[in-house]
Amino acid sequence: MSLKNNKNVLFLAMLFLFMLFGEAIAQTALTKVHVGITNKMDFNVTIHCKSKDDDLGIHVLSSGQSYGWGFRVNLWETTLFFCGFTTKKGGGVYNIYQARRDKTRCHGGTCLWDVKDAVCMAT
Ligand SMILES: *[C@@H]1O[C@H](CO)[C@@H](O)[C@H](O)[C@H]1NC(C)=O
Repeated sequence: MSLKNNKNVLFLAMLFLFMLFGEAIAQTALTKVHVGITNKMDFNVTIHCKSKDDDLGIHVLSSGQSYGWGFRVNLWETTLFFCGFTTKKGGGVYNIYQARRDKTRCHGGTCLWDVKDAVCMAT
């Protein structure tokens, strides 16, 4: 009788773990993120975004133009996109999406950035 009860407890514990794990997988693997970058300066900015696996190419945004793309965050939350920004006033390279840093910041799966004076401001 007590052995049978132990088995039930073990089964319940495994079921519980499975449900927790399954939920964690669903939350991370299925998270689709959209990143948008808007040029808020009155001159062009050239942007070149990459991840470890993807090169999104070179895009020129004139004043007021936006550029964006979507992707899924990987299971290990190591997804990282970084962009090089070049303007007539200078530029730099910024981490635009970093899964562990940004997963709670980007509400609704959308991360918007404004480019202002070659500095990216999260909005
Ligand atoms: C800005 O970029 C556009 C193309 O997107 C180009 O036609 C224009 O000449 C550029 N302006 C300057 C000042 O470089």
